Amino acid sequence: MCGIIGFTGNIDAKEVLLQGLKSLEYRGYDSAGISFFTENGVNTIKSVGKVDGLADKVASVAADVVTKCGIGHTRWATHGGVSEVNCHPHHYGRVTLIHNGIIENYKELQEELAADGKEPVSQTDSEIAAMVIDSCYKNNPIKAIKKAVKKFTGAYAFCIMFEDHPGSIYAIRNGSPLVATTTPSGTIIASDMVALIKYSKDYFVLPEHHIAHLTSKNITITDLDYNEIEPDMLHVNWDMAAARKGGYDYFMLKEIHEQPEALRNTIAPRIKDGMPDFSTDGIPDSLFSDINRIIITACGTAMHAGLIGRNMIEKLTRVPVTVEIASEFRYQDPILDSKTLVITISQSGETADTLAALRLAKENGAKTLSVVNVKGSSIARESDYVLYTHAGPEIAVASTKAYTVQLAAMYLIAFRFAVIRGSVSEDKIKKYVAELEKVPSFVQKMLSCDKAIEPISRKLLKTESLFFIGRGLDYALSCEGSIKLKEISYIHSEAYAAGELKHGTISLITDNVPVIALATQQKVFAKMISNIREVRSRGAMVIMIAGADAEVDASLCDHLITLPPIDDAFAPFGAAIVLQYIAYYTAVGRGLNVDQPRNLAKSVTVE
Ligand code: G6P
Repeated sequence: MCGIIGFTGNIDAKEVLLQGLKSLEYRGYDSAGISFFTENGVNTIKSVGKVDGLADKVASVAADVVTKCGIGHTRWATHGGVSEVNCHPHHYGRVTLIHNGIIENYKELQEELAADGKEPVSQTDSEIAAMVIDSCYKNNPIKAIKKAVKKFTGAYAFCIMFEDHPGSIYAIRNGSPLVATTTPSGTIIASDMVALIKYSKDYFVLPEHHIAHLTSKNITITDLDYNEIEPDMLHVNWDMAAARKGGYDYFMLKEIHEQPEALRNTIAPRIKDGMPDFSTDGIPDSLFSDINRIIITACGTAMHAGLIGRNMIEKLTRVPVTVEIASEFRYQDPILDSKTLVITISQSGETADTLAALRLAKENGAKTLSVVNVKGSSIARESDYVLYTHAGPEIAVASTKAYTVQLAAMYLIAFRFAVIRGSVSEDKIKKYVAELEKVPSFVQKMLSCDKAIEPISRKLLKTESLFFIGRGLDYALSCEGSIKLKEISYIHSEAYAAGELKHGTISLITDNVPVIALATQQKVFAKMISNIREVRSRGAMVIMIAGADAEVDASLCDHLITLPPIDDAFAPFGAAIVLQYIAYYTAVGRGLNVDQPRNLAKSVTVE
């Protein structure tokens, strides 16, 4: 959802900005641009399309230009179409800026500016922001920013250069992320740590409504009352290699393969003497002891992890759990009280709707816990407690490793909650924990099913529409399988509860509409067989995913994928890999850019 970066120091800024933008490209790739100080003032270079196109343009028009300070942006279009004029940075008067977010009241601001005879050249809310800041600017950048942001409603992260302050970058944020660090080569600020990791593993999150002033030597942070503050430093334990493709064709494939390690890193620190343990996470038992229901809220894949989590929590604790799409939840006037635990799940920790849902929960007195992958992100910082997943950076837009570690985190929550509640015997919990500990090696085994899945995916290349069906955990997984396939292969698909299909949707099943049937759960296996027969008799090609012990009649499906032996409750970890591979190989077979599907962005920091 737009990636932004600013650098000022003693090395070539163009290089730092372009490399940083490349790593931030997962946040948007409609257009890219940079602005930088030179002896002759501020230069700007913009290009529609990906960062590589911008890099070529920079190489051809500015290879010899010397600059040590600049800002860069990779765009996911919201206001204003994809065009060079709408591409950031935006420039007005003495101000040049980049923006991630949405200024919701830009129309009113635009009218005010028009009354002064000021007209924008683009259709973006961001240019209006540049114009407003310029109109507030006399010669004190901090004063101007302070005055301007009072006029803005909406979310923003800005990096701003003032023409008469060469070598300086100013930044402020509300809602959208910004992290920064000081290095021997200079200071750097960006939307995500992946753009900083080449220079440092230590960083800080710019506190909201604080202004960062970057010079080549240091960063000063002041609140809106001009008090200087020291930020809390954070550290990541991954490195450059984690943010690179490392020999894989796509980040998505690399990330699929990183799942055993990500799962190990997420599960192992939470197990002590065979029992779930959250003491190092600082999550007290009291969080679970005094609640009578749980609401899980999230978006996209993270919400799908919630659907699986609900199943395990209810099964072990008998406490009611609902799963809500965050963008719906926040406007539903939900019933919340101090006996409700709201669990938010988010890879990025910055998803605008999930963050708003969390804030709503807190305002209404609910307890809050978040399952987050990015350290120090807004959702992590604002929740009462956080259980970090340890997937490392996830770059591909289609989420894979972040999803399976979210499942693991939800299972750990279910186990710990069951222990505190005393709803399940210690022996039983120990058995579940032991199964969860086997998951990383189970997933490792599953990774070799690519050889079986690639040829099956080839059968889907010309498909226009298909269905995923399942019951219980398999229905929750179907939702994830379906989103994965459609987001990267552009094949329309739907996830359907297998028993519900006959209530209308089966009319869509023909011999041109394949069905991917998940049947990993013994409890409902016989029912699934009937549902598969129903679609098969309407001509559907059936790809079936079944548990190790399943007895499957050869006439039942066209392709059968069998999971290695594991307790049914843990089958989602294996089936998820199958679904990820189906999506991946279908998209690759259709010649698509798997990591950067059209119209999407990984981190959605707008509503
Ligand atoms: C976007 C991404 C999805 C992701 C969702 C929630 O839509 O494309 O892959 O699941 O946001 O993101 P979060 O960072 O909150 O998990």
